[in-house]
Amino acid sequence: TELDFKLEEIEKGGFEHFMLKEIFEQPSVMQDVMRGRIHLEDNTLHLGGVKDHLEKLRKAKRIIICACGTSWHAGLIGEYLIEEFARIPVEVDYASEFRYRTPIISPDDVVMVISQSGETADTLAALRMAKEKGALVMGICNVVGSTIARETTCGMYTHAGPEIGVASTKAFTAQVIVLYMLALALSIGRTIKDEEIALYLKELSEAPQKAASIIAQHADIRAIAKVYKDARNFLYLGRGFNFPVALEGALKLKEISYIHAEGYPAAEMKHGPIALIDKDMPVIFIATRDSTYTKILSNIEEVRTRKGKIIAIATEGDQEISNLADHVIYIPYAAAPVTPLLTVIPLQLLSYYIATERGCNVDRPRNLAKSVTVE
Ligand code: G6P
Repeated sequence: TELDFKLEEIEKGGFEHFMLKEIFEQPSVMQDVMRGRIHLEDNTLHLGGVKDHLEKLRKAKRIIICACGTSWHAGLIGEYLIEEFARIPVEVDYASEFRYRTPIISPDDVVMVISQSGETADTLAALRMAKEKGALVMGICNVVGSTIARETTCGMYTHAGPEIGVASTKAFTAQVIVLYMLALALSIGRTIKDEEIALYLKELSEAPQKAASIIAQHADIRAIAKVYKDARNFLYLGRGFNFPVALEGALKLKEISYIHAEGYPAAEMKHGPIALIDKDMPVIFIATRDSTYTKILSNIEEVRTRKGKIIAIATEGDQEISNLADHVIYIPYAAAPVTPLLTVIPLQLLSYYIATERGCNVDRPRNLAKSVTVE
């Protein structure tokens, strides 16, 4: 009805689509996720929803993360964060695979499920199965009071607010922040030094302001989108903490623009995707300044030799990369574990603008559901 339409316009707060609004909200969502949980005065974390189980979590023999879609990508980043900081072995599984193979789960394991909606059928089934086998089950959900949130023994909410756009954006960055805080909480007094905790907390607390400066470049990102809106395929490459971001960038593009896209760890390119590269193939490189930077540069060279078009996400001040890439989107410097929170933003915006340039319905893409509550 007309009233519904008007209400929707009000909810969009002046944005053309929910997805764009939700992308733009990320700096404030990031602050909401951290609020009351991070204490920079004394470098501590207060994670109410897991505090009674923190010892058990720290002693876990293994953490198994189960999720679907974008939440699974957040889980992959969680694996890198928890292993890096807390040195606890982590496995990440698609909830649908986990529930139908015969996974080995023991009472010393922690099964962590991640779900924006808290209602995804496969994730819920994975959780129930893990609980039955005696594992400690923890949840990271956005929707308060959702089924998964209620059935887990402990957990943390992402506090991202309602996410309406089918393609997940702000829920993802909120999930990554929760995982980052959890990984640090599991490390304190154990696997990392106090100075490192201080540094990583400070780095995280600076993410919202850095994210805002990336969003401010939306017009430049839109200009790149216009150049590539008719591409048939896209390749997204990243390494380390940004390998899952490459997967997420490709997922965002296919979900809303219907362009075929693949995400890959950059070094795996030579084991397949390199065969696809020609002058019509745009390749997105996440090439921030960290320990893998020089390796990524040589991957970029390989694409350039084959005349692929290169769009690089790079660290501010990096001149070298502008000589190699056709387009560069700069992000402020951040410690490597924080970078996924920043590098994902230009990729969300790029997908959004490509999809709108193509006239796609970005908030309700064809064939997709916000929450998949059936198998
Ligand atoms: C659907 C949505 C995705 C989401 C996935 C998992 O496919 O379209 O955006 O990432 O489900 O949903 P969940 O609510 O469990 O995070």
